[in-house]
Amino acid sequence: METIAIPELYIRQPYELYSAEDHETWHRLYRRLLPRWDQFANERFQSGIGSLCLPQNRIPRLEDVNLFLSPLTGFRARAVAGYVPAFVFFDCLRNREFPTTVTIRGSKRLDYLPEPDIFHDIAGHVPMHTDPHFAETLVRFGECAHIAAALVSEIRDPLERVRTLTSIFRAMARFFWFTIEFGLMRSRDGLRVYGSGLLSSFGEIEHAVCSPDVERRPLQIDDAIHETFEIDHYQPLLYIVDSFDHLYSLVAELERWMKAGKLNHVAPGEPQVNEVDLQSFLEA
Ligand SMILES: [Fe+2]
Repeated sequence: METIAIPELYIRQPYELYSAEDHETWHRLYRRLLPRWDQFANERFQSGIGSLCLPQNRIPRLEDVNLFLSPLTGFRARAVAGYVPAFVFFDCLRNREFPTTVTIRGSKRLDYLPEPDIFHDIAGHVPMHTDPHFAETLVRFGECAHIAAALVSEIRDPLERVRTLTSIFRAMARFFWFTIEFGLMRSRDGLRVYGSGLLSSFGEIEHAVCSPDVERRPLQIDDAIHETFEIDHYQPLLYIVDSFDHLYSLVAELERWMKAGKLNHVAPGEPQVNEVDLQSFLEA
């Protein structure tokens, strides 16, 4: 299957449009999280922050970030204007491109943000992309999406095609959520965070590791693909992996499960699967 070329997907980061208040918001977010990263973030994330030379006191230019990032793993952060349909997003990962939101949250909404912004994407995600094992895992997710599109394209009945795709996509979205966005990893000194939703949240990073209200389970595919999640509050359930090799092997296993039809009937419920995401797979 050919890679989808969408010329209008990427935009130029309109750097001159950031206000002094926007840069100050970045600064405040970054300064607050630094000590929490020391305490709770996975060591690969911490070395990633170092290798990217992210500025503390202003919003980074993506081209500067990429100067440090792409020699390490080939990944590049690419500015997008808004929502990227799911298949297109995964296809970007497969090509080592990370669709990056360029807007920043308002200065009065430092803590709670259901949608991504440049702080979540650049400070939360991109430092992990400096790690070769993690980068390979993202590429493998992208390959999974291609396999999903190919598998459902062989289903003749249109209703059955959409039903199967909905289930496979829901399984992938859950697995991505519980790993790339909200994953925990064992380390020498206890649990550490590698999921970007946690790494970019001042309140939740500590809650994820320390709170007695969070259930923490070893990540198993047959558990996570059936588990629902909601995006508008702290996560009550998180999954633990042993290492980045372990994470990669689980994504490879997810791919085998998909090929064996074992993602075709996952439990209903969140996340809701929208028409645009489904269509992006059907048109792949
Ligand atoms: Fe994210």
